[in-house]
Amino acid sequence: MKTSGQEQLNVMNLAARDMTLEEFEMMAEAAVDSLKWAKLDDLKSTETFITFQNLTDFDYERWNESDVKPGNINRVRTRSSLAEPMIANKGGWLFPQKVYLQNPNYLTRAANHRGELDEFVLRQPLCQSIYTRYKFVSEKLLPKYIHAALRNNASVKIVSLGSGTGYDVMEALKSFGPRVTLVCYEIDPLAIEVGLQMAKDFGVEKQVEFKHESFRHCQEEHADIAIMVGIICSLPDGLAKVFAKHASKCLKPDGVLIVSAASEKIAWGDPLSRFMSEYCASLFLEHRTSARMGALMSEAGYEVVELTEESMEFHRFAVGKPSSNLINGR
Ligand SMILES: C[S@@+](CC[C@H](N)C(=O)[O-])C[C@H]1O[C@@H](n2cnc3c(N)ncnc32)[C@H](O)[C@@H]1O
Repeated sequence: MKTSGQEQLNVMNLAARDMTLEEFEMMAEAAVDSLKWAKLDDLKSTETFITFQNLTDFDYERWNESDVKPGNINRVRTRSSLAEPMIANKGGWLFPQKVYLQNPNYLTRAANHRGELDEFVLRQPLCQSIYTRYKFVSEKLLPKYIHAALRNNASVKIVSLGSGTGYDVMEALKSFGPRVTLVCYEIDPLAIEVGLQMAKDFGVEKQVEFKHESFRHCQEEHADIAIMVGIICSLPDGLAKVFAKHASKCLKPDGVLIVSAASEKIAWGDPLSRFMSEYCASLFLEHRTSARMGALMSEAGYEVVELTEESMEFHRFAVGKPSSNLINGR
């Protein structure tokens, strides 16, 4: 029987204390489809339950009283090509990618998913903040750590764990030339197909490699920078620490891990997005303060180098260097 997002989260919270990545994947296979690509085509066979045709009149105050309950999520459809992948893909790569490109029609299969409604959704605080996050990662955070690594090394290797198309990192790569390379681990073949084309379009295809594999099987070593953006957002701390610890295996002793998470501001900063993610997509975000991000990294075995956030403060970042204990224990 399909469990609701909240039930899944409770199971994960219980299980996450001593869970290995392998056990997590087995559980994800069995119960949690939130990390997987749900085919948009599947939606075509579903019955329309609500439409967001009149989304601009959406009554924020009353969303709690809506008839839309997590049990009905398979019957939800929207007329927005931005909202639909957020729901179908449960916040996967396609939704942020559309936002990064500021293009709702990008990779949209159904021709009628256009127009004003998408423009409206794109202007919502969550979308604006995802765009701000993308700009922050590609124009500020990554260049800063690439420059720092280039001061001591002839070349710099970046590993993106759960890369999606890798677009945000590739954007940063463009200005550095062949001295900086990127290896992307991604389980969704469509994201990889699109990412490979993007690498060509950016002229960075010689610097970028995709591995169609879970980051649990990451074989990379000696990376200068590992990055996990949009990966731990809906995971409880126990599991997020497992992911962070695991990422240290691909790092040099003086390498850094960059992790993003949703801030507590997302919880109240955009009621519409919360409605869509919690009620429609059964996607429950953890809302992390900087202190919690710092504690998470320390407990995963990192020395915290930096705690920061994009300017809308919807997404927080922790940057950490693996401690000698973490390096020696791997
Ligand atoms: C929310 S998206 C974030 C994508 C990208 N980092 C970004 O910010 O646009 C999460 C991505 O992680 C991928 N993913 C989930 N579990 C994974 C795993 N075990 N190994 C590799 N990729 C995974 C999903 O397919 C999805 O593309």
